[in-house]
Amino acid sequence: MVSNRSRYAVGGTAAKASSRLALVAAIGLGGLVASAGANAQSETTDQPRGSTLCTKLPVPCDAVIAHRGASFQAPESTTPAYRLARELGADYLELDLQRTKDGELIAFHDNALGRNTDVAKVFPDRADAPVSAFTLAELKQLDAGSWFNETYPERARDSYVGLDILTLDEVIDIAEGGDNRPGLYIETKVPEQFPGIESDLRAALEARGWAGDSTTTSEPAAEGAVDVADGPGRVIMQTFSRQSLAELETSLPDVPRVLLLWLGEGGIDAAPSDPQGDTESVADYYARQTVASPEAYAEWIDFAKSHGAVGIGPSTVQQDHDGTFSSQFSYSDLAEPWMIGMAHDEGLLIHPYTVDEPVDFERYRERGVDGFFTNRPAALLEFYGRGAGDPSTILNDLGY
Ligand code: G3P
Ligand code: CA
Repeated sequence: MVSNRSRYAVGGTAAKASSRLALVAAIGLGGLVASAGANAQSETTDQPRGSTLCTKLPVPCDAVIAHRGASFQAPESTTPAYRLARELGADYLELDLQRTKDGELIAFHDNALGRNTDVAKVFPDRADAPVSAFTLAELKQLDAGSWFNETYPERARDSYVGLDILTLDEVIDIAEGGDNRPGLYIETKVPEQFPGIESDLRAALEARGWAGDSTTTSEPAAEGAVDVADGPGRVIMQTFSRQSLAELETSLPDVPRVLLLWLGEGGIDAAPSDPQGDTESVADYYARQTVASPEAYAEWIDFAKSHGAVGIGPSTVQQDHDGTFSSQFSYSDLAEPWMIGMAHDEGLLIHPYTVDEPVDFERYRERGVDGFFTNRPAALLEFYGRGAGDPSTILNDLGY
C-alpha cells in the first residue's frame, strides 16, 4: 500500500501529475483508516496546500464565512447577526436562499418555521408548512428572534425580540451598509422546491450590481477594511444539490460555485455501520460514519470539478460536540487529510462547515483547508490574527 506520505513526498508538480485515480487505488480502505485524524501538512508537504491555491482564485485565502451571520451571538439570519459579522470583519455573510409564495427571495435556513419563529402562535393551522407556503407579508409578521433568547439565555438581548426574517435585498443592504464590505456566500436551500430560483437569483443580483463585472460601489474601501464585495469573488454560490450546481453553472456561469458535501442520504455513499445507539447522541453517531470508499468520495470531487466548481464544502466533526450549541454542527469528517489532498490536487478550495472552536480551527488548518464556515467569526478572525473587536461591545454599539 502506498501511504499519503510517500505519495506527497514528491511535492507540487510531480504530485499533481500523478492521477487522482491512482491515489484512489493506492489509498484503499485501509489507507483511509490509517490516515484518519492524521496531520496532512506534516505528512505531505511543508506548506499548507490551500495557501497557494486560493491565490489563483477570486476568493480570499483563510476565508471567514459568517454562517447565518454571527449566529452564536445573535439570532441566525437576522439583522444583528449579519451586522455584527460585517462589523467584525468577516469576509462573507452566509445565507440560505429560499423563495416565498409570492416570489420574493429570502434568507432562511430551515424548510419549516417552527424551530426559530413563533409561527405556531401566528399561523397555528400552518405551523408545519414549508416556508414556500407563506407570502413575504406573512413571514414579516413572525418573530425570528425570541427563540434565541429562550434557547440561549446567557446570550439573550431584549432587542432580539420581534426580529424579522430578511429578504436577500435586505442582506445586501447590510453587506453594503458599513466600512467593511463583505461578500455573500449563498446556498440554494432545498432547490428542488424552487424551480428556477437560480435564474431568479441572477436577476436579483444584477439588479443590485452584484453579478458580473460591475463593482458594488464607486468609492474604494477604507484602508484595512474588508472589500470582498468589490472583487470578482463578491458572491460565492454553494449547494448540496448536484442538479442545482448544474443550474448555477448555466444561470450564473461567472459566479464561483462550491459543492457542499454530505455523507449518507442524498450525498456521498457511507460505509455500513451500526444504527444509532439508544443513548448515543446524533453528533456521536455522525462522527463514526465513514465514506464507503475513496471512489465514492472521488465521484463527488469529479462532479464538482466537471461542473466548474471552485471548491468543496465538506462537513466536519467538532472535537467537543456535546454542548447544546456545538452538537448541532458536528457531523461526519469529510475533510480528512487524504480528502483534502484529493480536492486540492483537482484545484478545488476547501471551506469546511461549520467550525467554531480554536481547537478545531487548528486541526483543520493544519490539514490545509482554505477557510471556514463559522457561527463565531470573532473567534475565527482572532485565530487568523485579524481580531477586530469584542462581539458584545459591537452589539452594544450597534444599539442591540
Ligand atoms: O452552507 C454551509 C453550511 O451552512 C451547510 O449546512 O445546514 O448549516 O446550511 P447548513
Ligand atoms: Ca447554509
